[in-house]
Amino acid sequence: MRKSIAVGMDIGTTHVRVIIGELNADSTLNIIGVGTSPSRGMKKGVIVDLDETVNSIREAVEEAERMAGLEVSSVFLGIVGSQVGIINNRGVVAVSGDDKEITEEDVERVMQAARVIALPPEREIIDVLPREFIVDGYDGIRDPVGMIGVRLEVDAMVVTGTSSAIKNTLRCVQRAGLEVNGLVLNSLANAEIVLSRDEKELGVFLVDIGGGTAEVAVFQGGNLQDISVIPVGGGHITSDLAVGLKTTLEQAERLKVHHGVASLNLAEGEDNIKVQNVAGKGDRAISQADLAAVIEPRILEILQLVREEAAKMGFSEPLPAGVVLTGGISLMKGTGELAEEIFNCSVRTAQPGYIGVKSPIYSTAVGIIHYVQRSHMISPSKGAPTRAVKGLWARLRHWIADFFE
Ligand SMILES: Nc1ncnc2c1ncn2[C@@H]1O[C@H](COP(=O)(O)OP(=O)(O)OP(=O)(O)O)[C@@H](O)[C@H]1O
Ligand SMILES: [Mg+2]
Repeated sequence: MRKSIAVGMDIGTTHVRVIIGELNADSTLNIIGVGTSPSRGMKKGVIVDLDETVNSIREAVEEAERMAGLEVSSVFLGIVGSQVGIINNRGVVAVSGDDKEITEEDVERVMQAARVIALPPEREIIDVLPREFIVDGYDGIRDPVGMIGVRLEVDAMVVTGTSSAIKNTLRCVQRAGLEVNGLVLNSLANAEIVLSRDEKELGVFLVDIGGGTAEVAVFQGGNLQDISVIPVGGGHITSDLAVGLKTTLEQAERLKVHHGVASLNLAEGEDNIKVQNVAGKGDRAISQADLAAVIEPRILEILQLVREEAAKMGFSEPLPAGVVLTGGISLMKGTGELAEEIFNCSVRTAQPGYIGVKSPIYSTAVGIIHYVQRSHMISPSKGAPTRAVKGLWARLRHWIADFFE
């Protein structure tokens, strides 16, 4: 049987990452292609240069294609949370069948009802996610299909997006010669890979600190409750180091990744790290403590901003399952410990266990494929949308088509 292929694309501030996954009939997934390229057209999670972004996309796709030995024609695309907003809404319908057994069509109708909402003109609905279904007043139902009832309600999360930002992203992917199969919120993709079912159930902050953005997602009761994005990330640490050490951004980035630690307590050794002066004349030697003295205050500031953002979202107290850290910054030794101080709760650094690529910087792209597979946006055998989500699929295609009008 021919296996189906799904491609996840994460257009981040520092890198474009492409993952080609092969979906097996038993719902497992093999990663057969990985591509990454420096993202040159993005700032703080937003596209600022279309042509550069198109080139970065092409480069990353070509690398993944070479590895997998196949050509990519379409992708599932990650969407950054700063372009989206969440509105809670309810939908109510009467169960249609004479036998009052709830069918997939009833669920489809109640989800449609939840979409009816007044929106400002610059926003569009991306997706509607059910939090819970309520059948004749009994709440907390995950899947009502097959149940008996008269009145079906849904408590839904309507995810809306800024049309222009998403249009630009879609345009870049299209100009790179690719079709977009569907959109997945980055936070939902990350959660797929890095959070356990218990963490999502009990309540957890998922914090993805990348190059230019820190994305905070709150999960509770098994569902995403809210997301928010602040425009801070590893890029700030790099520029602090470049200024502080009077060196180039390129050097500063290398020093940060290879020798940086998040806290002065962890710094070791003497002045044995070489730094080139910005003018290129001569080297100097610095210590890890010199690097930590610049890095620590900035990481503390970023974490503080994340905490304030969580409070603004209505979560000023720690959640039972604490904080899970992911994204490039989570790779910096000592970040987890600083986060424990700031959040005053247990902090876990995500260590994705999937085969092929183990670094959290690939979590979003890999998570997109997992999300797509689990939510049946693609079938294992044909690669086409499965029956159960025909409605969703049609909506999605319709919505994407709208963007290209
Ligand atoms: N080992 C490391 N130690 C410290 N920082 C690192 C390490 N590896 C990567 N980074 C930093 O992580 C950042 C990139 O992270 P990531 O790939 O998650 O970002 P992105 O997805 O491109 O950006 P964003 O999500 O903000 O749009 C860069 O600033 C990079 O310097
Ligand atoms: Mg990212």
